[in-house]
Amino acid sequence: LIEQINLEFEIKEIYHLAAILSTRAEISPKIAHDVNVNGTINMLELALKQSKSQNKKIKFFFPSSIAVYGVINKKYNYKEKESLNPITIYGSNKLYAEKLGIYYSKYYDQLSKNTSLVDFRSLRFPGLISAKTIPSGGTSDFIPEMWHSIKINNSYECFVNQNSRLPFLAMPDAIHAINKLMNAKKVTSRVYNVTSFNPSAEEFFELIKQHYPNAKLKYNINNIRQKIVDSWPSNIDDSLAIKEWGWSPEYDLDKTINYLRK
Ligand code: SER
Repeated sequence: LIEQINLEFEIKEIYHLAAILSTRAEISPKIAHDVNVNGTINMLELALKQSKSQNKKIKFFFPSSIAVYGVINKKYNYKEKESLNPITIYGSNKLYAEKLGIYYSKYYDQLSKNTSLVDFRSLRFPGLISAKTIPSGGTSDFIPEMWHSIKINNSYECFVNQNSRLPFLAMPDAIHAINKLMNAKKVTSRVYNVTSFNPSAEEFFELIKQHYPNAKLKYNINNIRQKIVDSWPSNIDDSLAIKEWGWSPEYDLDKTINYLRK
């Protein structure tokens, strides 16, 4: 199929969003590798072929993740190059895919000095929350699941403890970040953290209760998923994106709740 697409189309940009998310990937690590790594290299090869045939660098967007981190100090705001010790296959896949993207942008065919390479650009997304889509297969799912489950059933059984805290972005901001990065004239780092707010499970529930006062929350902790959340940072440092291409989130937590309610 990819070969056919390559022959039929002149591709301007590639947005490669397909992936097996972190919890689901732990159930089938080999399938996760096939999709998250082999799927990515297949798309990078397509980008490279297009770059060569058009004689210009094809822009390639890749969503990486906070899962690339494996942290010791949950309270520290991690920068892009710090503590890259993922404990999940998903995090390992994403970290390697970032490296592949950089390789295809800077070093591919380095012996023959080929200049038609790929213009790879990646965001390390935190958890994402959408008003429309109920997530599945991820580990940051407890925040969006809580919102949607309470909205529909007025109750939620949370699989991590009340202090679990991860960075988040509202979906419109994730899209805004992708567009901003892809429209930036030049990028130097190629991989950037982006974030906005980071409530704990309990804090998020307290906010939801302001809108659904009878909402019920029960904790039924899954130790493995807890361990995964505990290995990811509570917050990340996105100053590189701010500095290099003017990233700034539009949705803080209050604005996100308003967006979710609509
Ligand atoms: N949100 C993803 C997950 O939980 C991490 O990138 O799997």
